[in-house]
Amino acid sequence: MEQHHYFLNVEHKDSDFFSFTDYFLDKPYTFKSCTDIFSKDCIDYGTSLLLKTVIKNVELSGAVLDVGCGYGAIGILLKKYFENIDVDMIDINQTAVKLSQENAKLNGVVVNAFESNMYENVHNKYAHIVTNPPIKAGKQNLFSVITGGIEVLEDGGTITLVIKKKHVMESLKNHMNQIFGNVEVLKKDKGYYILHSVKTKAN
Ligand SMILES: C[S@@+](CC[C@H](N)C(=O)[O-])C[C@H]1O[C@@H](n2cnc3c(N)ncnc32)[C@H](O)[C@@H]1O
Repeated sequence: MEQHHYFLNVEHKDSDFFSFTDYFLDKPYTFKSCTDIFSKDCIDYGTSLLLKTVIKNVELSGAVLDVGCGYGAIGILLKKYFENIDVDMIDINQTAVKLSQENAKLNGVVVNAFESNMYENVHNKYAHIVTNPPIKAGKQNLFSVITGGIEVLEDGGTITLVIKKKHVMESLKNHMNQIFGNVEVLKKDKGYYILHSVKTKAN
């Protein structure tokens, strides 16, 4: 059988779609999903850690961008916890965008999900980027989450992401420090790191 990477656009049959329920901070959430979506049948451990860390450490307000939204866990759950934020969510994968739109409705929140290859179709400025970034699409793509991210952030804006140590954590951390002039490890757990940079005036 042909193998598909989760970031490619492929045709789907109705039978490729299903729903799952998972818990976040002791509350159940149901999401519609699909056979070739990232972490298709549970909230990814790194995604959950990122969300918990952001909720605890970063005071989100204003416009927030979820880069590589998948079925929508990050943007949707952030909107649940920070009702006043405006959430945009982007993914290169059309199915991911469609699922994020459907899952927002399913979970009773209003977000704006649209297709974009990295920041190509992003025209707004954001107070925060929160992302479990694409790693399967290569180091160049991963690094462009940072390089392109600073361009769409307001002054004082932040980027917070999750990365696994084995997945080029050190070089990504160095890249964030190079581009933003600062980087902080907000949390380490089971090989996952939550990295955070702030866009200062000097950037
Ligand atoms: C690690 S997954 C995270 C998915 C979701 N945010 C989550 O936490 O479950 C990364 C996502 O990035 C998307 N992606 C890959 N390359 C991309 C690109 N060039 N532009 C935008 N999104 C991309 C993939 O389709 C995938 O949904």
